[in-house]
Amino acid sequence: MTAPQKIILAPSILAGDFGNFARDAQRVEQGGGDWLHCDVMDGHFVPNITFGPDTIAAFRKATKLPLDVHLMIERPDQYVDRFIDASADHLIVHLEAQHDVARTLQQIRARGKWAGLAINPDTPPIKAAPFLDQIDELLVMTVHPGFGGQAFLPEMLSKLQELRFIAGDDLPIIVDGGINPETGRQCVEARANILVAGNSLFRHKTLNLAEAIAELRRHATD
Ligand code: DX5
Ligand code: ZN
Repeated sequence: MTAPQKIILAPSILAGDFGNFARDAQRVEQGGGDWLHCDVMDGHFVPNITFGPDTIAAFRKATKLPLDVHLMIERPDQYVDRFIDASADHLIVHLEAQHDVARTLQQIRARGKWAGLAINPDTPPIKAAPFLDQIDELLVMTVHPGFGGQAFLPEMLSKLQELRFIAGDDLPIIVDGGINPETGRQCVEARANILVAGNSLFRHKTLNLAEAIAELRRHATD
């Protein structure tokens, strides 16, 4: 299968230095990242806590890149407005969270922002089907959400192909978790077109961030 021409790379700031977020957001922009992926975790929906709207506002000051905000929180409906006020560009909410999904998506679009839907590894593709015409991007978790640095789940590749079949050619599909040049390439072959990557970029053994971004892009698009 041939890869789509344009692959978007969204480095995940979760793997950056929490004491130097502004610097790392700038490094992503200067290093050739397309979007800045920002993982918001509340300690309820996932067993980890990261950051909230004030930090998103700080990223906005540091970079012009689109802020792709992945809300791993129990009640996204109660917080999307605050994240939009903080200059988030894309708001991604989980299908498995406690909210009226269609309504939250509508709430995001009503404010002129990209509405994204994320699904966990155990959620069957068919559950996303009713929402596909209400979203601007679909995020397929390729690890169980909560922590960076986990191993890619290879069984997500067939799920990706199925979702691409259901969604059609035009919906941007993001993969998130355990993405490196090898798994990224496999996901592109399975017709994902946006790659989130944290550890493989920020904590590469030999390459700096810009070099690691370039390597991932080369593998994904060759
Ligand atoms: C995990 C997050 C991911 C994470 C990916 O719950 O949603 O965005 O940052 O990190 P890596 O690429 O290290 O698996
Ligand atoms: Zn994420």
